[in-house]
Amino acid sequence: MDAVSTIKQHQSLRNFTGEPIKHEQLTAIEDAIIQTSSTCFLQWVTTIKIRDKAKLALIAELSGHQEHIANCDTFYMFCLDVTKLEHLTGLRPPYGLRFLIGGLNDCSAACQNALTAAESLGLGGCFIGGYKAGISEVSQLLKLPKGVVPLIGLCLGVPNEQYREAQKPRLPRSWLIMDEEFSNPWDKEGASAEFASYDQEFQRYYSSRKYNQHDATWSRSSLAYLSGTLKPAAAIIAYLKDQGFDFF
Ligand SMILES: Cc1cc2nc3c(=O)[nH]c(=O)nc-3n(C[C@H](O)[C@H](O)[C@H](O)COP(=O)(O)O)c2cc1C
Repeated sequence: MDAVSTIKQHQSLRNFTGEPIKHEQLTAIEDAIIQTSSTCFLQWVTTIKIRDKAKLALIAELSGHQEHIANCDTFYMFCLDVTKLEHLTGLRPPYGLRFLIGGLNDCSAACQNALTAAESLGLGGCFIGGYKAGISEVSQLLKLPKGVVPLIGLCLGVPNEQYREAQKPRLPRSWLIMDEEFSNPWDKEGASAEFASYDQEFQRYYSSRKYNQHDATWSRSSLAYLSGTLKPAAAIIAYLKDQGFDFF
């Protein structure tokens, strides 16, 4: 399948058959990770592959009981890693926001390439940001030294097709893609009706799923999620500082 078709068919998959991913498939996915664009070509993404079942179970727990991590075949943790550059340049911490933003960009790009490559091979999976609930413990488990921080995870496996759902509906195109400059979609005539129609489409999607059905509009579920993110991220900030990163 060509790349655009693979990407357009994307959906996060969280149920796997338990069949192992083939060695050559993992190699192809890792080739895609390695070939990803890199900020100023600093090559500061280090990707850790985890297949050990006990470790996967622990990461699942630390990520807020995400069973699909325990049941996946392979978990990749994409880390910002300054240690190679430290070795060459004598650079020393603390490393500021430019490092964190650059690292996050690069880790996300590598993670998306890995998922797209996996999907093109008939595999499935989903991004994992939930490990941040236990970032310090996950970091200890992976033996990350100072100068290395995990920025995004990815679980992969052979999909259990019985669990494949329709794709999650996205907001209307004009709310997501704008020409030349920002134009607030709420200012458009008919915006409220257009949005309400999307919210209903989303609600129909969730109520007609085969699994994990619930009564949710996009606005309600986004609000519920966002109210959780307003809590301070003290533990994550403390962890990043311990690892040599800061917010200047
Ligand atoms: C940065 C990032 C972090 C995510 N973290 C998680 C996660 O911890 N657990 C999970 O089940 N899905 C996670 N997801 C997947 C999203 O829930 C999913 O992409 C979204 O609901 C849209 O569904 P779709 O990918 O099937 O279209 C994450 C996605 C992104 C981009």
